Amino acid sequence: MSDFKPKILAFLCNWCSYAGADLAGVSRIQYPPSIRVVRTMCSGRVDPLFVIQALQDGFDGVFIGGCHIGDCHYQDGNLYTLHRMDMVAHLLDISGIGRDRVHLRWASAAEAQPFADHVTEITDVITKLGPFDKTTHELPLAALARALATRRLRWLVGIDRHISEEENVYLEKTDPEHFKKVLQEAVSAEYHKGLIQELITRGPVTVREMSEKTGLPVHTISLRLNDLERSGVAELDSCEERTPKFVASAA
Ligand code: FES
Repeated sequence: MSDFKPKILAFLCNWCSYAGADLAGVSRIQYPPSIRVVRTMCSGRVDPLFVIQALQDGFDGVFIGGCHIGDCHYQDGNLYTLHRMDMVAHLLDISGIGRDRVHLRWASAAEAQPFADHVTEITDVITKLGPFDKTTHELPLAALARALATRRLRWLVGIDRHISEEENVYLEKTDPEHFKKVLQEAVSAEYHKGLIQELITRGPVTVREMSEKTGLPVHTISLRLNDLERSGVAELDSCEERTPKFVASAA
């Protein structure tokens, strides 16, 4: 394990972190050669699905670098990043992968040393976690990708700032704590549905088998399976010795 050198995918904002990385190079500041860089115009361009894709592609961790709050060249792109990555962290926790695989940091174009420090710190954390086994986590990753692609989560995480920071037409503001609770419930529900969807697309499966494969209680499976049946995504396939098996509905 001591020889392990993590491979970290770094999404760096063109205007700050990428320039900070460049300056660190020009200034010959040392940091671990663990990152592979993708330059984006803003940290807000980093779709949560990119993070999951990086883990599915075999990276051990992901680093998103953006401008400091208040310095985003597109005004509030990094505020969206902050909220989105909060949701990703919560999803990584409930999937068993853990939020420590993904890190969000701010560094300006002039902050070569802080940039190098961020890379060193993140590399240390991921080295301690060890290699990411994408095969073991294949099912949770597929379910995370499904959850993060749902209209429900994309919409909720897109409006959360506005709903809790601005008044609606009735001059009301939503309590941020209440909204956070709603979002977390939606995140769990969509992830659980993602797990079930993955299993039923792989062949007929009983509720108990789904429970064993996902580690979710039978009543949670039944509840979410009901949702999927109601939305036409899952259907009854057959009954073996009075035990129903479910599959994905034909499109
Ligand atoms: Fe750098 Fe938006 S431009 S985070």
